[in-house]
Amino acid sequence: MPRLLLVSNRLPVTVKVEKDSVAVVRSAGGLATGLRRPHERSGGQWIGWPGDMSRLSESQRTRVEEQFAEQRYVPIHLTASEVSRYYEGYSNRVLWPLCHYMLDRIPRQDRDWEVYRKVNERFADLTAKQYQPGDTIWVHDYQLMLVPGMLRERLPEARIGYFHHIPFPSSEIFRTLPRREALLKGLLGADLIGFHTVSYVRHFSGSLLRQLSLDTDVDSIMWQGRQVRVGAFPMGIDSDSFDSLAKEVSVLEEVASLRRTAEGQRILLGIDRLDYTKGIPRRLLAVQRLLEREPAWRGRLRFIQVAVPSRTQVEAYATYREQVNELVGRINGQYGSVQNVPVHYLYRSFNEKQLAGLYRAADVMLVTPVRDGMNLVAKEFCASRPDEDGVLVLSELAGAADELNKALTVNPYDVESTADAIEQALEMGEHERRERMRALRAQVKAHDVHWWVSHFLGRLQGLPSVSVRD
Ligand code: UDP
Ligand code: G6P
Repeated sequence: MPRLLLVSNRLPVTVKVEKDSVAVVRSAGGLATGLRRPHERSGGQWIGWPGDMSRLSESQRTRVEEQFAEQRYVPIHLTASEVSRYYEGYSNRVLWPLCHYMLDRIPRQDRDWEVYRKVNERFADLTAKQYQPGDTIWVHDYQLMLVPGMLRERLPEARIGYFHHIPFPSSEIFRTLPRREALLKGLLGADLIGFHTVSYVRHFSGSLLRQLSLDTDVDSIMWQGRQVRVGAFPMGIDSDSFDSLAKEVSVLEEVASLRRTAEGQRILLGIDRLDYTKGIPRRLLAVQRLLEREPAWRGRLRFIQVAVPSRTQVEAYATYREQVNELVGRINGQYGSVQNVPVHYLYRSFNEKQLAGLYRAADVMLVTPVRDGMNLVAKEFCASRPDEDGVLVLSELAGAADELNKALTVNPYDVESTADAIEQALEMGEHERRERMRALRAQVKAHDVHWWVSHFLGRLQGLPSVSVRD
């Protein structure tokens, strides 16, 4: 099997400096969690940003670098100005809201493009340096949309794939971006461009037609004398790993303890990065609405909402955090009692084992983003239910809804209907719960992350199928 070079903005681990100690922690988010195991199996390299290492002493830096070399991680260090303008600026203040249909969050002035372009160039240079003939290069996500084109200039013969982990918006949205053409041309440097859903592929083809007058022939486009292929490759999770974790004795003990503390109550669960695309305020309002209109549920619901700190230097995230804090306070103030509050809000992150425990303890999982490329949490919940119980309430605006059609789907903008769906989930009979969960689990297992990698690389390498398990 050819060596695989993964290229993403973030490495799957991030260096955190606290006082005098240094910790190398798992990075949050679907891209990092999803590609970690395929990387372990592939024997290749992973190029990406490890977070800020500028405050490390010489010896700390050496230790961390040794650890990286062992894991085959190749770090790319960003300056403070690059972090603020390429990562927080163009990637997360412009491209992120644009792809999630939130044009009014984009700053009026386009100041960070040049730094975005330069950092993409640095990624392309480092990747070209690591490249050996025969390698397959796989570039990931919106922070690096120019990299495929830049690599094509440096390595005309290389096999290059690109995967877009977030939605690709309708061409009516994409056309508003001043740099629309440069970004599309950047992607066209790849041999294969992958998206999570068929709609995203259609939107991308629509933009190619409108902006570059390029016609897509089913799944391929001719660009500068090369054939570029596009396709939908819905990303999966390591379902076997969640399935086994959810059966571990220590996890089951944790589940029992969670259930004991929620004695007489039903557990609702939300797990998200604290991101304005995740629909947390409307989800809270739906729970509030249910308590308001159905007094019988008061005191009988425990809504555990995990919010993982994310992109804290971007103002929109700080404002969002305040908004969520305030809503949680309001609902708990209104419907809490001396013994109990309805919303248990946890602003922190958990490891996979802890997540498996939470998933397995929940009666109802609430995944209600207002827009989401895929949403792996929804799939992890199903994989963590070997007991074939629990109900998934899922936003129709998450990519995962295309596959998980046995979930209760909701329009997350419709608070009243979301409250209805939560109630339906709480009242669903055991037979229906099991029937739905069995189908959901079968879907998640059949299309796991290994299937996703094999499917994408198989297409990229022009073979029927290449397995990273070999
Ligand atoms: N996650 C985690 N710890 C947490 C909460 C979430 O490791 O405390 C992981 C979760 O297991 C999942 C990923 O973060 O794999 C979130 O991916 P998803 O696709 O749902 O959303 P994203 O954060 O990529 O927008
Ligand atoms: C989403 C994006 C990833 C990103 C992750 C976490 O999953 O698609 O590219 O890594 O969020 O965000 P962060 O900005 O912390 O890397």
